[in-house]
Amino acid sequence: VAAPEIRDLDDLVAALRAAAGLHDEGPGLPSILDHGLQCAALLACTHPDDLELQVAGLVHDVGWLARAGDRWRVDTSAAHDRAGAAAVEPLLGKRIARLVGGHVAAKRYLVAVERGYAGGLSETSTFTLAHQGGPMPEPEAAEFARSPDAADLVALRRADDAAKVLDAQVPGLERWLPALQALAR
Ligand SMILES: [Fe+2]
Repeated sequence: VAAPEIRDLDDLVAALRAAAGLHDEGPGLPSILDHGLQCAALLACTHPDDLELQVAGLVHDVGWLARAGDRWRVDTSAAHDRAGAAAVEPLLGKRIARLVGGHVAAKRYLVAVERGYAGGLSETSTFTLAHQGGPMPEPEAAEFARSPDAADLVALRRADDAAKVLDAQVPGLERWLPALQALAR
C-alpha cells in the first residue's frame, strides 16, 4: 500500500488544506476537505463525546492524497482506506488508524447486511465497490460485526455517506485544530 507519508501535524493540516481543491468524486460533490469536514461535523452531533471518531471522520479520505513535489494530488488508484490508515497511525494513533482503515470494509458490510443501503450510495461509491471486493461475504461479515470497532465503523460510514452535500454550512478546518493538537503524538 503506497501511503502518503504524513510527517507531523503541520504536514497533515497542509494536506487537508490542499484537499480543499481536490476531488475523489465527480462534479457536484464536495472537495475531499469539505467532505471530511461534513463527516466530522455529523459525528460531532451523533457522537459528541468521541473526539477520536470525529477526527477519524475528518481524515478518513487522506489516503486518496499523494505528494507531487511540495504539493498534493489525488491518486485514484490508491487502496485509500489502508493507505489512509498507514498515513495517520504514527500521528493519530492506532484507533483512528483502525477507523480510517475500516471505512471501506464498513461499506462492504452494510451493502451485505442492510436492505436498501447499496441504493443510497453515491455513484462513485457504487463504482468503487466492485474494485473493493463487492458485498462482504457472510463469514467475513459475521467477523466484522463481532469486532470491537464495528459500531464505530458503521457510524463513520453513515456519516461518510451523508457528508456529500455541496456547499454544506459546517465549521472549517480551524474548528478541528485543537482536537488534532490534542490527539497528535
Ligand atoms: Fe469518504
